[in-house]
Amino acid sequence: MCGIVGYVGAKNAVPFLLQGLSKLEYRGYDSAGIAVRTNDSIEIIKKRGSIQNIKDIIGARELNSRIGIGHTRWATHGNPTDENSHPHVSSCGRIAVVHNGIIENYIELKEKLTELDIKFNSETDSEVVAQYIGYLYKTNKNIFECILETVKVLQGSFALCIICQDCPEKLIVVKKDSPLIIGVSEGENYVASDVPALLSYTNKVCRLPEKSVAIVTADEFKLYDFDKNVIEKKLDLVNWSVDSAEKSGYEHFMMKEIMEQATAVKSTISPRINLDLNNNLVKLDNITFSEEYLKNLEKICIVACGSAYHVGCVAKYFIEEILRIPVEIDLASEFRYRNPIVKNSLVVVISQSGETADSLAALREAKKLGARVISIVNVFGSSIATESDDVLYTYAGPEIAVATTKAYSTQLVSAYLLTLKLCELLQKRTLNYDKIMQDIKKLPEKIEKILENKNSIHDIAKKYYNYEKVFFIGRNIDYAVCMEGSLKLKEISYVHSEAYAAGELKHGTISLIDDNTLVIALATQTKLVDKMISNVREVRARGARVLFVASENCQEKLHEVAEDVIVIPEISDLLSASLSVIPLQFFAYYIALYRGCNIDKPKNLAKSVTVE
Ligand code: M6R
Repeated sequence: MCGIVGYVGAKNAVPFLLQGLSKLEYRGYDSAGIAVRTNDSIEIIKKRGSIQNIKDIIGARELNSRIGIGHTRWATHGNPTDENSHPHVSSCGRIAVVHNGIIENYIELKEKLTELDIKFNSETDSEVVAQYIGYLYKTNKNIFECILETVKVLQGSFALCIICQDCPEKLIVVKKDSPLIIGVSEGENYVASDVPALLSYTNKVCRLPEKSVAIVTADEFKLYDFDKNVIEKKLDLVNWSVDSAEKSGYEHFMMKEIMEQATAVKSTISPRINLDLNNNLVKLDNITFSEEYLKNLEKICIVACGSAYHVGCVAKYFIEEILRIPVEIDLASEFRYRNPIVKNSLVVVISQSGETADSLAALREAKKLGARVISIVNVFGSSIATESDDVLYTYAGPEIAVATTKAYSTQLVSAYLLTLKLCELLQKRTLNYDKIMQDIKKLPEKIEKILENKNSIHDIAKKYYNYEKVFFIGRNIDYAVCMEGSLKLKEISYVHSEAYAAGELKHGTISLIDDNTLVIALATQTKLVDKMISNVREVRARGARVLFVASENCQEKLHEVAEDVIVIPEISDLLSASLSVIPLQFFAYYIALYRGCNIDKPKNLAKSVTVE
């Protein structure tokens, strides 16, 4: 969603603002803008469309300033127009603001300011922030105090970065329910809503704590709470390399990230299990469970959105089979509105970005209800990570493509590890446990094998890219993987597809199957292959073409009933999702490529969804 950048220091701010915004493009946006302070005024350049438009306006002009802010907007309140783009400026023209999040009470504030004769120039909720500060500034020339007074009247979520014409050396930043980071360097400091904007400049960062304000100058920054009390600063070192957020020769981030999955899975499991020795214990970072807690543990609730939710759907099968503890899985946006019962439950929140507003709200609800929350998160120090009781980090590195791939895979193995740890502590280790553990260790090498085979999936996709109707069918874990395969295809290729439990088709949906339908059938669960063959015969009889994705040990007999069969290496049935998802990612990628879609930035979507 929206992106923020800011700079104060000895150099010209403009190159960083433009480059920083480009690095945030992946989050999704429909307009962009910057504001810099010149000797005479605050100069604003903002435009609907891509960042290139801003660059074109600046052109050969020597726009030079030691301080500035920038923004990419993903429209929520008001269309993507030049006027609605950020930065927004107060009526006095001396204060410019960029904002991520939503000001929920903006109508009330706008009415109040309009009665005071303040003219608005946009339809956005964000402009009220600039106008409110500007209104206070008329009578109080202490900009910091005006900002503190303003944040107290704002309701909703806001990350703000503000400059004032009369304070040539100060950026003021605010964080509530939307991420903001200060990047620290010698003689210059940076602000960004997300780490990739900063990677080429510094790896020393301070993630603003919830409800905090910072005054950032070239040489230092001071952190306060909303009541002006000084807060202790905490600096972290980001260990993502500059290259990790580059395409490194790939045409798209999505392909690069698919290809990184063997490494990402290995990085996530290797610190937690011993890959070489015959040692089958899990070291789960510093997460501990008391005997008392385990004795009372009755249920596991998994809460997440999108692909992370699909990880939860697979994990439910895995956990219930191994631990024999019931698992409930909720979409985060539904969880808090259904009055969930979390007594004696462990709540697991899964999120790549750690900033998804729905997941964060669900986490808070779970904690309010007294549950212990463990999160599985990729972004270090993100809001979900910070607010959880414990975090299990995935080591996927930065994920830039909107369509998640390596984050899904690393979340899945993290869920396996958490389950095996509980299994060990609850003394439920069986023979199955050891086999699963050995197979988890083999996952990186088996994933690598599938990655090597990508060209064959490319050829298969070529046959099917014109189909407008696709069904993914499977049973058990395969059904859960179908949901992810279907989402991948929909989000990047805009082909309508549905994931269906294979046995459920005949209860209504089979009426949609005809000779314009492609059915992608998964068969990795040994005990269910024959049932899958029967279901595939049903759709074939109604004209559909069928592509099977099957495990080596399940493939026999499938060639007779399908046009194509993609074979994945043999693995314990319970782990098959980690392999079967990969051909589906490739398939979606190649279909989108053939259809000429914008793969890394699909329309209407944002990488990190920070509004509810
Ligand atoms: O950052 P999160 O994992 O919390 O994001 C959740 C979903 O928005 C995300 O998985 C989304 O569904 C992906 N774009 C799917 O590829």
